[in-house]
Amino acid sequence: MINYQLQRRIVNETNITEVVSEYVTLTKKGNSMFGLCPFHNDNNPSMSVSDKVKMYNCFSCGAKGNVINFVSRIENITLDQAAIKLAKRIGIQIDERKNAQALKEERLIKVMEDANQFYKFYLKNSDEGVKAREYLNNRGITDEIIDEFEIGLSSSSKDYLYLALSKNNHSSLDAINLGLIKEDENGDYYDTFRSRIMFPIKNRYGKVVGFSGRIYTESNQAKYINSIENDIFHKSEILYNYHNAMQPIRQNDSVYLFEGFMDVIAAKKAGIHNSVATMGTALTTEHVNMLLGLTKNIVLCFDGDNAGVKAMKRSCFMLSKYNNLPNGIVLPDGLDPDEYLKKYGTEKLINYLETNKKNVYYWLYELAYKKMIPSDLVSMETFKNEVFEFLRTTNVDSIHSFFFKKLSNDLDVSVDKLMDEFNKLKPKQVYQSDNNEYPYNYNQDIATNKDILPVPDKRTTKLKTLKVTKKIQIAYDSIIKHSIFSKDRFAKFFEQSTIDSVLRYPGKELVNQYLILVEIQNFYAKNDYLGIENLYIILENSKELLDFAIEIVQNRFINVTLQENFDECLNAIIEFYKKQDQINAYNEAILSTSSNKFYEKSDEYIKLKEESIKIVRKENNI
Ligand code: GTP
Ligand code: MN
Repeated sequence: MINYQLQRRIVNETNITEVVSEYVTLTKKGNSMFGLCPFHNDNNPSMSVSDKVKMYNCFSCGAKGNVINFVSRIENITLDQAAIKLAKRIGIQIDERKNAQALKEERLIKVMEDANQFYKFYLKNSDEGVKAREYLNNRGITDEIIDEFEIGLSSSSKDYLYLALSKNNHSSLDAINLGLIKEDENGDYYDTFRSRIMFPIKNRYGKVVGFSGRIYTESNQAKYINSIENDIFHKSEILYNYHNAMQPIRQNDSVYLFEGFMDVIAAKKAGIHNSVATMGTALTTEHVNMLLGLTKNIVLCFDGDNAGVKAMKRSCFMLSKYNNLPNGIVLPDGLDPDEYLKKYGTEKLINYLETNKKNVYYWLYELAYKKMIPSDLVSMETFKNEVFEFLRTTNVDSIHSFFFKKLSNDLDVSVDKLMDEFNKLKPKQVYQSDNNEYPYNYNQDIATNKDILPVPDKRTTKLKTLKVTKKIQIAYDSIIKHSIFSKDRFAKFFEQSTIDSVLRYPGKELVNQYLILVEIQNFYAKNDYLGIENLYIILENSKELLDFAIEIVQNRFINVTLQENFDECLNAIIEFYKKQDQINAYNEAILSTSSNKFYEKSDEYIKLKEESIKIVRKENNI
């Protein structure tokens, strides 16, 4: 919704040093203003801010960008929310009309927020709440933590929430869709969550999109009930506490990933703020993207039981797809962080977490080793296979050699023999990353920049109907847009076509496309995910290129949610050059058929010329 021209206006007309100094104390040094960088743990002012170039730049952690980017980061709000905020500052009125889907989401979030208010109120103000708070306090969840995590309570009565929502004029259909209420055979509404401690689950912008309810009385029901998947609640995209942890994760440059959200709460009690948990699901590619956008240092902290080991392996495999090597921690005696805290106290928990971060393979090895019975051949074989299994998920040589040595010691078998066996296994059983699975959730990436990007629609450029000059240009633009959101797609383009092909293009010069692709290539040499945020950074030196790239990103006809769109464009490019090669070959043949090319037209010459014209005609749909 906020177009790029407006963004540029905001950036140009806002005094960035003024805005930054509302958050950070700046002092003048030479020509620039310096301050402590808020995006990492900075002791020495290493962030410079310049109103001349309209940028901030941290020499230490590398955070940099324009004023919109700064406000978005420091306030954990979307780029467009930041832009709206800044626009108001300089007196620009923004037309905040929104599309139907966005309006619906907003309405549903309002229902969730009101339900949250009700649950919180009920915990604090009902007789049932007394008992529930007793349960929480017994678990060490103080009133302060209750407020911080906005914990609430659903009543044991049939329809208190329903009544509360109706009073606020919410439609029962919305509440049904959200899974908050249900309808019985008589058409009466009743609350889904009853007699449960309610934990609101927020999306990355801090909006309540779901709940998890825990039983707190004797009951044979499931320990937790989560909200159903709906328009605004997608477990595969939710990390508990992500919104609050973003800043601390950046500052610590690391994140703890726990199994349960109770562990996140425990960590918070111990003063650890950079932690998140999945909602009882396996780590998804969306989760990984959310985390890798903040830090590369992921610490998996799972229970030492079978389920925990499995989850750790799965997460590890998932991260290996992104060339990420996580650390791991397994607490002793099968305790989870919450239980460990209760048993040993804050200091011990912090100490354990801080001093036991080890490469995740170390933990997997330890846990497998513990199960092995020395001298029992079957169990030794199982142990060896288990180690092989996780070693196959990494290509890092030092890890292989380290564990081969360890394994050789523990099994009393030579390293060579183990390697031999391992290498024999490799071609057949090597861990197959799920290549068919699309690694990024485009809908989400686009949704996060909703006001900058138009909502994707299902239309794609009808490449086939375009003239070839336009067609190839659009195809390259499209490749750029896809590449911004996917390293894999960029890699595919790079492999099958190469960047230099852009320069071969004989029509309108595509220099901008070429330069942008070069920057993308440089970026992906060291990073896994580009996205719009980083676009500002890699193209910061050229306003023209940045404007150009943003225009491409805003082109609603290039739909990155569709793999076909990418394939079509890549094929168009490949086919185009194939035809070019053919035409060139014809032309050469034509030249060689006649000694006097100006006068004499042999039959062969005419045939070739006709063929070559046919190709060009077909290409141009004429
Ligand atoms: P407490 O028992 O309250 O300390 O929770 P916990 O965090 O120790 O839970 P546990 O380790 O058993 O489970 C980890 C996560 O799995 C939880 O945070 C939930 O998200 C999920 N989970 C556990 N039990 C259930 C259940 O019965 N139903 C559902 N849907 N999810 C569950
Ligand atoms: Mn627990």
